Amino acid sequence: MEKNIAVIKGDGIGPEIVTEAMKVLDKVAEKFGHKFNYEQLLMGGCSIDANGVPLTDETIERCKAADAVLMGSIGGNTTTSPWYKLPANLRPEAGLLKLRKSLGLFANLRPCVLYKQLSEACPLKKEIAEKGFDMLIMRELTGGLYFGERKTEEVDGVMTAVDTLSYNENEIRRIAIKAFDVAMQRRKKVTSVDKANVLDSSRLWRKVVEEVAKDYPEVTLEHMLVDNSAMQLVKDPAQFDVMVTENMFGDILSDEASMITGSIGMLASASMNETSFGLYEPSGGSAPDIAGQNKANPIATILSAAMMLRYSFKMDKEADAVENAVNQALENGFRTGDIMSEGMTLVSCSGMGDKIAELI
Ligand code: IPM
Ligand code: MG
Repeated sequence: MEKNIAVIKGDGIGPEIVTEAMKVLDKVAEKFGHKFNYEQLLMGGCSIDANGVPLTDETIERCKAADAVLMGSIGGNTTTSPWYKLPANLRPEAGLLKLRKSLGLFANLRPCVLYKQLSEACPLKKEIAEKGFDMLIMRELTGGLYFGERKTEEVDGVMTAVDTLSYNENEIRRIAIKAFDVAMQRRKKVTSVDKANVLDSSRLWRKVVEEVAKDYPEVTLEHMLVDNSAMQLVKDPAQFDVMVTENMFGDILSDEASMITGSIGMLASASMNETSFGLYEPSGGSAPDIAGQNKANPIATILSAAMMLRYSFKMDKEADAVENAVNQALENGFRTGDIMSEGMTLVSCSGMGDKIAELI
């Protein structure tokens, strides 16, 4: 098969980690007889430097024309980078939010797995880490607090800022359906996370999720408050299969979940619309402190590329091959600095990419 992939390397460690994912994809193409054509596009801080804006209409159009988008990370140090002197709507993150919205990517899938080889890197108590876990966070990505009306103004002489958290039933229904659909392919349990003891948007969320659940009698549904979920994630992560939640809760909980997998450098993600089109990016940020040092962990980006093969290209065998190669590289003792432990072999970002590509 021939596929056109829009590639947004982005800022910070973005270019390094995406280069390794492309190395692995090229190996897949060679091995399985496919052709991947890449078109490199700018978004985030690098686009501000080149075009004055974090995302151009041209980039949006080129992404739409591609079969899928592979992305690294965007943004810089929020206290020192000149990008953060710009008005909020011209900063790197605004580009990413606009791109997600323009492509209709409402469903963000973040699988969090504790690899048995990495139980040493898991900061949880030994008896919890030993049980392992394998969960998927289904984060709503184009609604809620990150897209509601916002303003900062002086009210009666006092500076006041407002952000709005709004969801309509259709936005909730479509993400709930995605969550139940993936639960059917997994262990058939959905935990819907909300703050229904306080928020109206959460009460509507709960009601709509319950309606959707009626169409999936085989799936067990439970509701959990977001504060309790944050606690349960470190107390007993093995209890979760699919967790579905609104945009900001999902943003926060997925960082927490990534940490207990050993490192945020392990967490892949897929952002999908109603079709099989998706944008694939690691869940972690641009890590400006280690950018350009060939130190970053490329595994999250490589696993995101595997999700692209599986979800957008329907190449299951190929996706399995990439996931197995990652497993095998870990099994063989190769570690980047973030997941290093005693007795293992420290490798660079490109070193890890080489090891994984060799194992395809
Ligand atoms: C993420 C990131 C983004 C988000 C930022 C960079 C806007 O934290 O993908 O989790 O909040 O969605
Ligand atoms: Mg985040």
